[in-house]
Amino acid sequence: MNDADLLRLDRAHVWHPCTQEKDHEQLPPIPIERGEGVYLIDRQGNRYIDGVSSWWVNLFGHNHPGLNQALKDQASKVAHHIFAGFTHEPGIRLAERLAELTPGNLSRVFFTDNGSSAVEAALKMSFQYWQQVGIPQKTRFVSIREAYHGETLGALSVSGCELYREIYRPILLEGFQVQGPDCYRCPYGLQRESCQAECFAPLQQLVEREHEQIAGIIIEPLIQGAAGMRIYPPIYLKKLRQLCDAYAVHYIADEIAVGFGRTGKMFANEHAEVAPDLMCLSKGITGGYMPLAVTLTTDEIYQAFYDDYTTLKAFLHSHSYTGNPLACAVANKVLDIFRDEEILDQTRPQQQLLDDWKADFEELPQVGEFRKLGMVAAVEMVEDKSSKAPYPWQQRRGYQVYQQALRKGALLRPLGNVVYFMPPLTIKQDELQQLLQIARDAIITVTRV
Ligand SMILES: Cc1ncc(COP(=O)(O)O)c(C=O)c1O
Repeated sequence: MNDADLLRLDRAHVWHPCTQEKDHEQLPPIPIERGEGVYLIDRQGNRYIDGVSSWWVNLFGHNHPGLNQALKDQASKVAHHIFAGFTHEPGIRLAERLAELTPGNLSRVFFTDNGSSAVEAALKMSFQYWQQVGIPQKTRFVSIREAYHGETLGALSVSGCELYREIYRPILLEGFQVQGPDCYRCPYGLQRESCQAECFAPLQQLVEREHEQIAGIIIEPLIQGAAGMRIYPPIYLKKLRQLCDAYAVHYIADEIAVGFGRTGKMFANEHAEVAPDLMCLSKGITGGYMPLAVTLTTDEIYQAFYDDYTTLKAFLHSHSYTGNPLACAVANKVLDIFRDEEILDQTRPQQQLLDDWKADFEELPQVGEFRKLGMVAAVEMVEDKSSKAPYPWQQRRGYQVYQQALRKGALLRPLGNVVYFMPPLTIKQDELQQLLQIARDAIITVTRV
């Protein structure tokens, strides 16, 4: 089928995610034929550096021989089977390894198949735990304004990005939302490198006041992704852990985006040397190959569900593809690669390169801030640098950068006015250099008037 026919059918039948379909009248989706390392390659042979790891999932590049092999090996045994009443070695090994690798005592692993579902499971587990240990009034969750935890109704209820949730407000769960860290526009006039997370005060006050009805606090550790890669300091998480301990509230860490090496450590909580009570992982868990997610928790929480069947304490939550063996096999291979190829150490030069570009971006008249943690960096475009006034969202400056970058061979997918980089961890220095150059050029073009 030629491209024109393919796109006609796409227009006729496909509804793409997080997209105003009418935009496709001007810029149709690009049919991708194959991948090769950090590149996505379309049917005409055009190559695009995947600067966003295809929505933050890809870790070691596309079409990776080792991951391909792991998938083939498992497919030749069994692709999927029910995970209730049955189990399998890839799932067991993965659970054991994640329990070992994650911070603290997260010894129990509950499988789902996407990030939002991992969040749903965490919220339900936390809620049910309090019901079953005799504190049933703990029913509400706290989250940060601008947080993003997924699109299903529970996850959306604890998300703050108004863009995604405003219209659904009447059907969302009731919870508490507080102002979180916003280091670029810090209301206290402090620097993220030296502050004591003074912005923790609203959360502290809320929990002191309402803890009797609070089940848990959910947060994206260190980087609020969809909010525009807002980076905040580890001390915020240290304070959060202390607060949760003091008031018997669960700390739910959503490491779906930041887990698996993105921040320079395997898990973002390691920067703060704290451990959550529940932790959600997905995205990079299979290196961008298969839909898989997990909710990890402590034995203490697990034990509150462990009893005779007739007590009805079981966690009766399931998905058809729970613990998919193909996905688990690939996830095990991902962990092998992290270990055998010392991936975290290997990213050091690339992290340095990102640092080196800070000045090149910040010298631009319409760039307010270049921020970076590990292998994630973001450039915030502003209408006025001195007042930090954002461009009105209707101008779609980020979308214009996306269009410009595509023409030059890079996939960037800005979040509003924030152009960010979250490439595969194995991106080579020259590829990263090219990606940054394309982004800088695109920003100059788009902010000229
Ligand atoms: C921090 C965070 N939590 C949850 C999710 C939801 O994951 P999924 O899109 O797999 O449902 C995302 C997705 O971007 C995310 O970034």
